[in-house]
Amino acid sequence: MTVVRLSLTIAATLVCTQMALAAEDFRHTITGEPLKVMEESPAEGRDTPAVKKFLEDGTNLYIENKGCLPKGEEVYLTACSGCHGHVGEGKLGPGLNDAYWTYPKNATDKGLFETIFGGAQGMMGPHGNHLELDETLKLIAWIRHIYTGKTEEAEWLTDEQKKSFKTYTAAHAPESAEAQAEADKKIAEAAEKKEGGDDQCKVSGG
Ligand code: HEC
Repeated sequence: MTVVRLSLTIAATLVCTQMALAAEDFRHTITGEPLKVMEESPAEGRDTPAVKKFLEDGTNLYIENKGCLPKGEEVYLTACSGCHGHVGEGKLGPGLNDAYWTYPKNATDKGLFETIFGGAQGMMGPHGNHLELDETLKLIAWIRHIYTGKTEEAEWLTDEQKKSFKTYTAAHAPESAEAQAEADKKIAEAAEKKEGGDDQCKVSGG
């Protein structure tokens, strides 16, 4: 009897853990098919506090953590800027720095995650298989950071976050190649200082 009860308890605990890990249901932006977030993402970076929280309820803890922006920018410049422009101004792919979205769900962090993970149409391929989940959350924080539109139209920010949000200004978007090289150097230096530690980028699961 005790054994049965114990195994039932274990089974129930397992089910609950599974649910807590992936309470959100992630879907492909175009097909609506379920995304295999755990199965298809790189093994590294799947179990950070920020990833756990995000899979649970869609909250991206990195949005409010400026120390994580350099990593997000690094990922953006490596994987996205070639098509979407250096500061999300748009190039081959649409702009990512205003309030207009072809797919309205990208105005939520969950929707943006789904588009990045599973891709959309044509040249917008899936990125979930090569970007670590934790990196993707930092990337999303960076994309929200380069927003140049009106703060009140930033649906993805909570009322509290809107109070402190500062629109990304032209000062951050260098116009000349020299200014760009200078800005890139600063980012590289900042990233180097944090090598190994990443002290500026710490979150705890909420
Ligand atoms: C090879 C070029 C290319 C690369 C690299 C690329 N994209 Fe795209 N992206 C596109 C194109 C083209 C579209 C338009 C597709 C569509 O409308 O379905 C698009 C669409 C999008 C959208 C939808 C925008 C909207 O208005 O709803 C988002 C978000 C996005 N990309 C983010 C990213 C991010 C983040 C990365 C880096 C991880 C990235 N893309 C890398 C070409 C690219």
